[in-house]
Amino acid sequence: MILKHKAIGLIIGGGIAAYKSLDLIRRLQDCGAAVHVILTPAAQQFVTKLSAAALSHLPVQSSLFEGEHSEDINHIALVNKLDLIIVAPATANRLASTAAGLAQDFAGALLLAATCPVLFAPAMNPNMWAKPQIQRAIHRLQQDGYAFIGPNSGAMAEKHCEGMGRMSEVPEIVSKTKQLLLPKATPITNQELTSQELKGKKFIVTTGATLEPIDPVRYISNYSSGKQGFAIAEALQKRGASVVVVCGIVSAAAPKHIELVHVTTAAEMLDAVTEQLPADGAIFAAAVCDWRVATAADQKLKKQGETMQLHMVKNPDILQIIATSPGRPKLVVGFAAETENHLVNARAKLHAKQADIIIVNNVAGADSAFNSDYNQISIVEATGEQHLPKLSKQELGQKLTDFIITAYNNL
Ligand code: PMT
Repeated sequence: MILKHKAIGLIIGGGIAAYKSLDLIRRLQDCGAAVHVILTPAAQQFVTKLSAAALSHLPVQSSLFEGEHSEDINHIALVNKLDLIIVAPATANRLASTAAGLAQDFAGALLLAATCPVLFAPAMNPNMWAKPQIQRAIHRLQQDGYAFIGPNSGAMAEKHCEGMGRMSEVPEIVSKTKQLLLPKATPITNQELTSQELKGKKFIVTTGATLEPIDPVRYISNYSSGKQGFAIAEALQKRGASVVVVCGIVSAAAPKHIELVHVTTAAEMLDAVTEQLPADGAIFAAAVCDWRVATAADQKLKKQGETMQLHMVKNPDILQIIATSPGRPKLVVGFAAETENHLVNARAKLHAKQADIIIVNNVAGADSAFNSDYNQISIVEATGEQHLPKLSKQELGQKLTDFIITAYNNL
């Protein structure tokens, strides 16, 4: 949704990671963006103009003095169309020349003329990355408002070489791109500004109900509105986290400045959460249907006889699967929606699902948390529990975020 109809400039620099940028073209297109590729002369030693043009379905630029003649100079004509520029791989040379304000080639001129956000995905040998000249250039670019993703640490293309300098993976670059193009959040307060403890951390939050079809017109679901998960997501974002909400069916308005991935069924929710990994934390506030109809009917079921039976099968337990997977986020928080024996059931879920924390709330009677603006919770951990008074879901989101930050730092 965020990238739909957006024009992205992709400057591919001269490095071995250039091959990943061909995949980046496809992944950005999958999100609805048009990708205008700029191949530097050095990049053409690694990937060809032909492959970039074939994948992007748009002309590829590489030199200041080529292509169509219009009344505008080429790089100015292009830069005016762009919503964001990605530089991937961003080489040591590109970082240093941009920091110095050089417009020595098409990419340099484009970057200097740009008024849209620019995202650098650096990739280079670890010794180059560590050089004070490069670190100074990065510091300067960050101060000038340029955004960065990576690099990651790991094995390099050169034999027996490991360290900091691998370009971020394509899904990480796409996720950061979406984050940069989100509508601006409400200004954060001074207190929030000084308490950005989650800066650089990615959190996944699930919210809302899943909907499991019976036939084309009927379904099984529950009363979750999405309010509690949205409130937690907003509170995490205000403390600096990059947040993606995997959102089932909701009746509450979603926060405009948070990235949402919409899903319907539990199976789709599991896929969407898995796609968002790796993440530093995951909060499972969604009310996921435990069961689904084994095979939803293609046609509307006819009213026959006095009773009818549905053959139901268990849905995947998303929280349990993620909490026990090799890519488990460092902190995993689940909810327990209970109508009786709240604390006993919550503790059983903590162990069965291998969560670090379970937030238990009541979903019975007039005090049900479903669709209410208020909630009363207990926080259950292996080492103990805390009971909070009834609060608005926004206040709870903030208190839970305080708790999450402490728990995260203690892990
Ligand atoms: O959306 P609101 O109207 O604001 O209401 C908030 C809420 C009541 C929905 C929320 O606070 C809440 O309790 N969410 C969890 C609801 C739920 O499904 O609880 P559960 O006890 O059935 O499941 C336990 C945990 O396992 C939950 O974290 C749930 O997301 C997860 N789960 C459950 C089943 C399943 N198949 N996969 C899961 O991941």
